[in-house]
Amino acid sequence: MNGTRKPIGVIGTGYVGLVTAVGFAEIGCEVYCVDIDPAKIAMLERGEVPIYEPGLEEMIAANSSRLHFSTSLDDMVAHARLLFVCVGTPPTHAGDADLSAVYAVVDAVPASADHVLVMKSTVPCGTGRTLKRVLAEQGKGSLAYVSCPEFLKEGSAIDDFLHPDRVVIGDEGGVAGDEVEALYAPLRAPIVRTDIASAEMIKLAANAFLATKISFINEIANVCEELDANVIDVAEGIGLDHRIGPKFLQAGVGYGGSCFTKDVSALKLLAANSGYHFQLLSSVIEVNELQKRRVVAKLQRHLDPLAGKRIALLGLAFKPNTDDMRGASSLVLASRLEAEGALVRTYDPIAETEALKVMPKLDCADSAQDVVVDADAVVLVTEWPEFLELDWSTVAGAMRGKLVIDGRNALDPEIIRAAGLVYEGIGRA
Ligand code: UGA
Repeated sequence: MNGTRKPIGVIGTGYVGLVTAVGFAEIGCEVYCVDIDPAKIAMLERGEVPIYEPGLEEMIAANSSRLHFSTSLDDMVAHARLLFVCVGTPPTHAGDADLSAVYAVVDAVPASADHVLVMKSTVPCGTGRTLKRVLAEQGKGSLAYVSCPEFLKEGSAIDDFLHPDRVVIGDEGGVAGDEVEALYAPLRAPIVRTDIASAEMIKLAANAFLATKISFINEIANVCEELDANVIDVAEGIGLDHRIGPKFLQAGVGYGGSCFTKDVSALKLLAANSGYHFQLLSSVIEVNELQKRRVVAKLQRHLDPLAGKRIALLGLAFKPNTDDMRGASSLVLASRLEAEGALVRTYDPIAETEALKVMPKLDCADSAQDVVVDADAVVLVTEWPEFLELDWSTVAGAMRGKLVIDGRNALDPEIIRAAGLVYEGIGRA
């Protein structure tokens, strides 16, 4: 695309920041990226990428001439008008979003009528209003503010950025929102223009709805197990109704990742703090927590007692194509099994290093073939493509027991059974 587009700034080079930066560079913008972490900036300047995301490193390399990295805001402020805020908003101990990194940005940006803060970080509904007041108190009231939440998914982040279902722009009128809309125009996505609070709520409501869909189908799966029905067929049957849709109806060991866990809880608390009890979300969270533990009950039913049994976990990351361990179901599973005295071995093609940071004593094998050796049971936790292509006869030959629990309903039961193994999925008759 053309190289005449206006430069932009990106503050924070985490997941959202890097993908936003490289995405806009790909459509022709000069992008000035800033991060407070000098080590991260040094890595990026060397062309190394601090996170695992398919295609990201290659796309950064292809756009290196348009990407500028620094720990200082000066260059960015000198060149760019739209400054995208992409800093982390992790949960506090109370479960609300920690906005300290957002406030640090507000403190650091100069008073300027020539700049626009474009909020990409996920923030509670009402944050924009508060930030505008804080900016005014700091004498920076002329700085424009736009909410532009990000909806990308880890593992397919670049594609999600370049082909968004929609772009949401919340502003209070004026040209800033129009400028953000013009920037996104080459992506030809539907644009939703609204006020700032509604844009903030769209982000939280979208994640809460998707998490609700997953908890719903997980409960249907659990009932299917009681009634000898098959949740895969049920999901297909309901998903073909256009009002329901087929996506996010995959039953399994519960949703993980930082976003659903954080945003569902943040929305529930945000509602509670404003006097409303969001009952449905309490159930969504509880169902998910129980779902992560259900596999332990399945193992217990087949192998009781679990003490001394060898359990192989295939996959650690919260989903395939990422090394992100935040909220991963594998963590709950491994801890619960260890508490029962089981001997847990794990294998993940990418996430081992991240997993060991959270559970340093995790016993990690070098390959899928290795982890199943002498196992009494194998549990598929993350549906990495390589696990779907395993030779189950070889696995059966290497195992001590026969049980395969498919925590993602991603394996073919017939193939597993043909190898002489016992298959159990989630809600599959
Ligand atoms: C999620 C949203 O999908 C993005 O739109 C959003 O931008 C992002 O959070 C965010 O707020 O940053 P992400 O957490 O990367 O994206 O991953 P998803 O693909 O949504 O998966 C989340 C979890 O749900 C995974 O553990 C996945 O295994 C699980 N899942 C997903 C199911 O158990 N069943 C399904 O049918 C779909």
